[in-house]
Amino acid sequence: MSERRHIPQDFDPTGPETFDSAFGLYDELRQRCPVAHTDALGGYWALTKYKDVERAASESETFITSVQNVVPKIAFTGRRPPLHLDPPEHTPYRRVLNPLFVPERMRALEPVIRRIVIELIDPLVARGQGDICKEFGAHMPVRVFGEWMNLPEDQVETLRVAGADFVHAVEAADFELMKPTSLRLYELARDLIARRKKEPMDPAIDITSALLAARVDGQPFADELILGTVRQVLVVGIVAPSVVIGSICVHLSRHPDLQHKLRAEPELIPAALEEFLRLYTPYRGFARTANRDVEFGGREILKDEAIALVYASANRDEDVFPDPTQFILDRPNIRDHMAFGRGPHQCAGMNLARLELRIAFEELLARTSHFDVNGEVLVAKIPEIGALSVPLTIKGR
Ligand code: HEM
Repeated sequence: MSERRHIPQDFDPTGPETFDSAFGLYDELRQRCPVAHTDALGGYWALTKYKDVERAASESETFITSVQNVVPKIAFTGRRPPLHLDPPEHTPYRRVLNPLFVPERMRALEPVIRRIVIELIDPLVARGQGDICKEFGAHMPVRVFGEWMNLPEDQVETLRVAGADFVHAVEAADFELMKPTSLRLYELARDLIARRKKEPMDPAIDITSALLAARVDGQPFADELILGTVRQVLVVGIVAPSVVIGSICVHLSRHPDLQHKLRAEPELIPAALEEFLRLYTPYRGFARTANRDVEFGGREILKDEAIALVYASANRDEDVFPDPTQFILDRPNIRDHMAFGRGPHQCAGMNLARLELRIAFEELLARTSHFDVNGEVLVAKIPEIGALSVPLTIKGR
């Protein structure tokens, strides 16, 4: 094992941030110090250039997730596939997860998601104001998730409260609070598994039943890894959509012409969302650990040192996306953005994420004639980046 060494502090990720300064820090680091070290949050390297992030995300035999998959490091209460496992151990879990996000399943969910979105948006429009993150973004993905996981009604609310507490604890780096909320989520997962063992559902539409039915070389998954997977998917898709929705609303308030254009031409929304996902990528803290000494941009990273893949910065790399801080519809290489990661851990739920974002903006724009930020925008801490609270004035049609 490599010895701990003193490395100069290149940046401080713990200072106060605003919506713009958070992204601005990485714009500056890409110029000054693209492979940057900090002692904060347990000590880690931040990769800010596209090519470096892409390499670390793709070379999974060298850059592993099983030590630490996020900065700051969270004390594990158990191994949770697929994020905590490296290939080849990771692969069978993705084989089970991926079919649950196929287009056919997404089409079946579309009317359900639209109903949820409308139920949540209409009261905000009627009131003429509301916090799009706290009153819409924090609820919509959980309710959609509840439908996707076939959760009983009462558990959806438990998930919303426990998930929000957990994320708050992670963001505040409050390890005391993190453990009990994580354990509550385990309780929820345990309960769900017990229900499905008694009354299995069709594995083609139910993740828990699919995990229970899966066989690798004739063997079922170990009980604690099924539990870990259910626990993992219970929170993984909840925060990012809310942060992106908030960030997009900030942008559309600052650019009323674009807001008007997307309202008048809703067929542009899917392409606009891809550019928004690039510009306001909600993650900067997914991490890997090098299992041997490696070199990035002339700097040596030693075995066992933590590395953050700053997807939010890679997507603003001027070498790949010209005028990176500008919103440009239909960039020729927009498909190359890494908002959903890259390599074996690339987001399993991206079809669902895209679907719920599309429906959210179709309905928000169709049911309003204008919205505008009318108060302070609060921002997310690492591992996320972007808006956590966005108060809006909302004019109906
Ligand atoms: C805007 C919304 C979302 C964004 C930007 C996003 C982004 C990401 C990223 C960047 C990763 C890669 C992590 C890494 O490199 O270590 C990831 C992994 C993952 N995401 Fe998402 N995600 C979103 C929504 C969702 C949703 C809705 C679900 C499920 C319903 C989901 C399920 C997962 C899972 C299971 C993984 C782990 C994959 C693995 O380790 O193999 N995500 N996501």
